Amino acid sequence: MTENILEVRDLVKHYPVTRGVVFKKTIGHVKAVDGVSLELRAGETLGVVGESGCGKSTLARVLMNLERPTAGSVNYKGQDISKLSGGALRRLRRQIQLVMQDPYTSLNPRMTVGDLIGEPFEIHPEVAPKGSRREKVKELLDLVGLNPEHINRYPHQFSGGQRQRIGIARALALRPEIIVCDEPVSALDVSIQAQVMNLLEKLQAEFGLSYVFIAHDLSVVRHLSDRVAVMYLGKIVEIGTEDEIYERPTHPYTQALLSAVPVPDPTLRDQKAIIRLTGDVPSPISPPSGCRFRTRCWKAQDVCAEQVPLLEIRSGSDHPSACHFAEKREIVASHEA
Ligand SMILES: Nc1ncnc2c1ncn2[C@@H]1O[C@H](COP(=O)(O)OP(=O)(O)OP(=O)(O)O)[C@@H](O)[C@H]1O
Ligand SMILES: [Mg+2]
Repeated sequence: MTENILEVRDLVKHYPVTRGVVFKKTIGHVKAVDGVSLELRAGETLGVVGESGCGKSTLARVLMNLERPTAGSVNYKGQDISKLSGGALRRLRRQIQLVMQDPYTSLNPRMTVGDLIGEPFEIHPEVAPKGSRREKVKELLDLVGLNPEHINRYPHQFSGGQRQRIGIARALALRPEIIVCDEPVSALDVSIQAQVMNLLEKLQAEFGLSYVFIAHDLSVVRHLSDRVAVMYLGKIVEIGTEDEIYERPTHPYTQALLSAVPVPDPTLRDQKAIIRLTGDVPSPISPPSGCRFRTRCWKAQDVCAEQVPLLEIRSGSDHPSACHFAEKREIVASHEA
């Protein structure tokens, strides 16, 4: 068994919703992340997938202790990092880095790439003494496929894909063990997406990195992920290996997401059953009772409103799913489907 590099237990992040300007009154909570447990194994890529607003970025921030959780714990090598502060937190920051979605807004336009990529060394001078920093930055540029000669250029002089490479170089500067990638390719053209994904894969192999890879869409993470977690309204509804999620999904939400993925083979495309989700995603301020997905689920029964389905392995399946009626369903279905 590979060791777990991160262990997340019952993680919760609620944001208060307030009314009034002078006398702020809390009138509710956005339940952005509402009881998430998962493990990240050393050297693996864990894909995290779900619709907009389901709590993926919040999970990323809380996981890295960029924000404190409302409850729960994040264990990294035997210590709960959600409680760290000061020097201990700064040391941890070296080990877990973030690559964000939008390379346009996440890079300071007034800094050269050299300064941008070298900035982490200001906070962690022990990684690269002052005299060696320029060389280190050039090495990093080379590593992510950018020309080291361009060290004095500004972000606007690079394309979207190149800017994402700058973001990746910056994340790599401190030689982290874990990189949380929050939709790193969503803003890029499809052809550029593949190049950035290939780069991330190459770096993972070279440095033994562990990735948490967040995306909207199951098709984006398939190639890269060893395991995938599917999120809906602040909770994980299904988690498993690539095969388990893509070939044998048991949660209706995963099945619906997969049925929306385009199938390139025309003969298979004709046979594919499209599951259309009806209704909108409910508000995370007042999620439905019981199973949160029940208001959009074609299998929903009374029990779904009454009991929260636990994320557990159910009979006839081989991986955890949070559905009272979890069952295997062929995604490429027969003609009558
Ligand atoms: N700082 C905050 N204060 C209040 N509510 C927040 C805050 N950050 C996020 N939320 C809310 O928490 C929920 C989850 O947001 P989050 O950004 O984590 O979703 P996401 O899955 O990353 O969405 P997207 O795919 O659009 O990036 C949303 O309803 C959002 O409005
Ligand atoms: Mg997000």
